[in-house]
Amino acid sequence: MPVMRLDRFFSSQDILTRKEVKSFVKLGMIQVNRIPASSPEQRIDTEKDQISLNGNEVPYEPYLYLMLNKPQGVVSATEDTRNPTVLDLVPPEYFRSGLFPAGRLDKDTVGFVLLTNDGDFAHEILSPKKHVPKTYLVRLDGPLTPEGIRRLEQGIELADGSLCQPAEVFLREDETEPLCEMVLREGKYHQIKRMFGVLDLGVIWLKRTKIGGLCLDEKLPEGGCRKILHKEKEKILCTYTMPVE
Ligand code: URA
Repeated sequence: MPVMRLDRFFSSQDILTRKEVKSFVKLGMIQVNRIPASSPEQRIDTEKDQISLNGNEVPYEPYLYLMLNKPQGVVSATEDTRNPTVLDLVPPEYFRSGLFPAGRLDKDTVGFVLLTNDGDFAHEILSPKKHVPKTYLVRLDGPLTPEGIRRLEQGIELADGSLCQPAEVFLREDETEPLCEMVLREGKYHQIKRMFGVLDLGVIWLKRTKIGGLCLDEKLPEGGCRKILHKEKEKILCTYTMPVE
């Protein structure tokens, strides 16, 4: 929406709070097209008007990219009648219309969900043609054999006959329970659970730890959500992978 109130313009860009806009307008520190703003409610058009703060132009960035550490029991949808959705975990200051999860995790899967209102960027991450890797940690109910790894790495055939692209599999030897790291470059429905199902293994815990070259922030608690910085966003489209240490 290009037309909005001046205070909303600044708060949506995380530059000033509404309260700050009020005092800055009073002090004459905010200009619209080089004329001091008349009030925080003044309506501006982000496509036509030039907004300045203290004489410095403030460009409008319409898109927002958020990193969410999804807990179990939350669905990767924008609305649901029974369960909390990933949008319910977005703090009010980041909430924008048009925000949606770029890629789904199952209700019982935890970890990295990217939320954005940038449809083109979401398409780039999700399109199998772009090969953006998604990295998962998988806890299994039994040991993964070298033969099982070979089949996953070659591209396993699912029970319905569909063929998976080759996955990268790294065993975590130091763990007491069978744990492995998997990298996929596509996203079929329940893919990891179905891949291990073919090998007669159950997935007892699943976490997405990385999208492209961007790791889930370890400091983000389950249910936590924060902005993805510009330099982090560039890492997302990185298609090269290394096992997470
Ligand atoms: N594979 C699954 O089976 N579930 C997920 O949530 C993600 C990948």
